[in-house]
Amino acid sequence: MANVEQKLITPVSQAQSGASRNKVTIVGVGQVGMACAISVLLRELTDEMALVDVLEDKLKGEMMDLLHGSLFLKTPKIMANKDYAITANSRVVVVTAGARQQEGESRLNLVQRNVNIFKFIIPQIVKYSPNCTIIVVSNPVDILTYVTWKISGFPKNRVIGSGCNLDSARFRYLMAEKLGLHPSSCHGWVLGEHGDSSVPVWSGVNVAGVALQQLNPEIGTAQDKEDWKEVHKMVVDSAYELIKLKGYTNWAIGLSVAELVESIVKNLSRIHPVSTMVKGMYGIANEVFLSLPCVLSAEGLSAVINQTLKEDEVAQLRKSADTLWAIQKELKELES
Ligand SMILES: *[C@@H]1O[C@H](CO)[C@@H](O)[C@H](O)[C@H]1NC(C)=O
Ligand SMILES: *[C@@H]1O[C@H](CO)[C@@H](O)[C@H](O)[C@H]1NC(C)=O
Ligand SMILES: *[C@@H]1O[C@H](CO)[C@@H](O)[C@H](O)[C@H]1NC(C)=O
Repeated sequence: MANVEQKLITPVSQAQSGASRNKVTIVGVGQVGMACAISVLLRELTDEMALVDVLEDKLKGEMMDLLHGSLFLKTPKIMANKDYAITANSRVVVVTAGARQQEGESRLNLVQRNVNIFKFIIPQIVKYSPNCTIIVVSNPVDILTYVTWKISGFPKNRVIGSGCNLDSARFRYLMAEKLGLHPSSCHGWVLGEHGDSSVPVWSGVNVAGVALQQLNPEIGTAQDKEDWKEVHKMVVDSAYELIKLKGYTNWAIGLSVAELVESIVKNLSRIHPVSTMVKGMYGIANEVFLSLPCVLSAEGLSAVINQTLKEDEVAQLRKSADTLWAIQKELKELES
């Protein structure tokens, strides 16, 4: 007796088994990981998504919850497992897992704990998706991107840190609020180290090609009567303020990561302020990752834009590079 499926459906072709060409894996299903996942899903960037974490119940719950939304999504395959085998053949792997800083814990100690976690995660990613591009989101992102690059043995074009992508998005939003425009029409780059010591490039801030520095030569300085410096200060303070208010930040980072994924899977060659290996640039002598305007395309990070930075901006980059290197050189057991 034929069953309902057999009575209902007359096959015309045999199902072809073929690998996904734009599979996205999210490692870590916390608030940030799930915000990345939903952003990628809603923007219809992939036909296959894998979620990995060590918390099996949480993992299964998140997967079921997403699958119940299948009617509203265009990603037919959503999988979750603690076994990295499900991540096989990923195009892009987004790493959001990692330990959070505990009260009174030094940055070095936090980084070392995360190195130990990454020593488990990264080799698994590499094993199952040797050709993927890894986007590191976990903090401190610039150092953990370096750690990922070292452990993975990947070429530097395939290891990217989300870096100042969110800082720049926040900057453009706040600038847009000040001018009553949409952020996409407000151009400005926050570069360098993600977080407290990020560098706003005031000389490049513009709307429709009009440099705001030409309208207000003091922009961004302490002498500026309009206090544009406050825009960057608010960017730096954002994470602290949000953590105070809601305990974490997730939506904006999720949305900003989906933008990076899109440039890669669609080979758009768009430019984003993301963390890349800067040794040899701006006189930086060590292997550190800092955010610069980078071209993202099918090969991952395919080029860096050589921006004309002012002397003090270059000095700030070098200072961040020294700070990061001071921590990185203390890290133990990094080589793969
Ligand atoms: C990775 O890319 C290489 C070179 O293009 C190819 O030979 C290899 O089959 C790919 N590996 C996987 C697992 O896709
Ligand atoms: C990506 O785009 C570049 C430039 O437009 C092109 O040369 C390249 O072949 C494309 N790569 C893939 C994998 O489609
Ligand atoms: C960027 O280009 C300028 C002018 O061509 C050059 O002087 C400078 O060294 C370049 N900077 C980097 C970081 O390559």
